[in-house]
Amino acid sequence: MSLLIKNGEIVTASDRYVADLLIENGVISMIGRNITAPAERLIDAAGKYVIPGGIDAHTHLDMPFGGTTSADDFESGTIAAAFGGTTSVIDFAIQYRGETMPQALENWSRKAEGKAAIDYGFHMIVTELTESGLGDMDAMTRAGVTSFKLFMAYPGVFMVDDATIFKALLRTKENGGLICMHAENGGVIDVLVKQALSQGQRAPKYHALTRPTRAEGEATGRCMALAEMADAPIYIVHLSCSDALEQVKRARETGLRGYAETCPQYLFLSYENYEEPDFAGAKYVMSPPLRERWNQDVLWKGLANGHLQVVSTDHCPFCFKEQKELGRDDFSKIPNGAPGIETRLMLLYNGGVLPGRISLNKFVDLVSTTPAKMFGLFPRKGAICVGADADLVIFNPHAEKTLGLRSLHMRVDYNPYEGTKVKGVPETVLSRGKVIIDNGKFTGRAGAGQFLMRKPFEPI
Ligand code: URP
Ligand code: ZN
Ligand code: ZN
Repeated sequence: MSLLIKNGEIVTASDRYVADLLIENGVISMIGRNITAPAERLIDAAGKYVIPGGIDAHTHLDMPFGGTTSADDFESGTIAAAFGGTTSVIDFAIQYRGETMPQALENWSRKAEGKAAIDYGFHMIVTELTESGLGDMDAMTRAGVTSFKLFMAYPGVFMVDDATIFKALLRTKENGGLICMHAENGGVIDVLVKQALSQGQRAPKYHALTRPTRAEGEATGRCMALAEMADAPIYIVHLSCSDALEQVKRARETGLRGYAETCPQYLFLSYENYEEPDFAGAKYVMSPPLRERWNQDVLWKGLANGHLQVVSTDHCPFCFKEQKELGRDDFSKIPNGAPGIETRLMLLYNGGVLPGRISLNKFVDLVSTTPAKMFGLFPRKGAICVGADADLVIFNPHAEKTLGLRSLHMRVDYNPYEGTKVKGVPETVLSRGKVIIDNGKFTGRAGAGQFLMRKPFEPI
């Protein structure tokens, strides 16, 4: 199958120029002006941007959590991702206690195979680390799972101690892996949650009030110190507030290879959402929680000046009915997470590029190129160059859309951005040269997505 995209404005993390793109056998085979080579299909992209497909480095599809399972599986979630201009996801496989990492990888591969409509990779969530577990980490990096998520929160479920974190960091220094950290002080939070419940504080807002920014800042600083002692790189996931960002900045200034992502929810939503009436605050229960609004500006500046390098979604959707409602009488029983896999590019373009907070090149860098580099996929993904996979988005900067249940495709009964009007929409999306979103219609196939063997970490 060959395809020619003509007259689009190609935008990468570094360049902007009008050119044609020839795609053959799933990869970009030629970039130039006035390409006349024959192709089976021609798309005129005049007046539109052509950008590398988005890479969402943080999703939880079909994940058992909080007594229920996230509402999108690999089929519905990756189709929604494609509608939003994302052509690769890196999801989290979970190694439960008593289980090996190869077993966990097999379990998550089974969830994705035959279902994923776009390419997918895995990080490995490590919940215990025995001697053989350290060997498993090496085996995972050889199998293309080159990053490991550890939790400093959720005691009794996911949380590991400092010694485990330190051992894992030392191992990644040897095997080329990257530790991804959920940085919140789980011990402190546990005490605060118990205290709140004993005082009858049960509404959704207490989820946020029992997870102070200092608990995130402290854990961020602590794991940065552990990484410094191990002389290993570290990546903070879903960073939500100024307190934590200060710790990342400080560590980076001393030369640590410390990196961090934030997510649209922390750039657009805030603590006040928890005070919405009729238990609606439960829609925003996630960890870390939404913060006071002033943090948003600090995070936008962090993205603009490079202290934050990636915007991912932490897509972990639970329906309001029957799932979020599990915590109607007790905020600590509300499953943690929210939907976002489909709205990331539109939100970041609207909140970042249109008001001039970040450049168009920076936008591409945050949603595609740096996640590809950080997680061993560049230049196969995240780039527009000859030989790269033709994972491309034709982004129409003039098209408008109202975000909400009627216009979106995630399998969840609410949307945190319901009614938000955006300008700039992913119109046509290609996955390895195949058009999977054609002018707003899904034309791909569940099961067409391939497992991504990722390379070891390289400093960026
Ligand atoms: O609330 C969240 N973030 N749910 C997903 C699990 C995690 O910690 O990333
Ligand atoms: Zn987390
Ligand atoms: Zn997550």
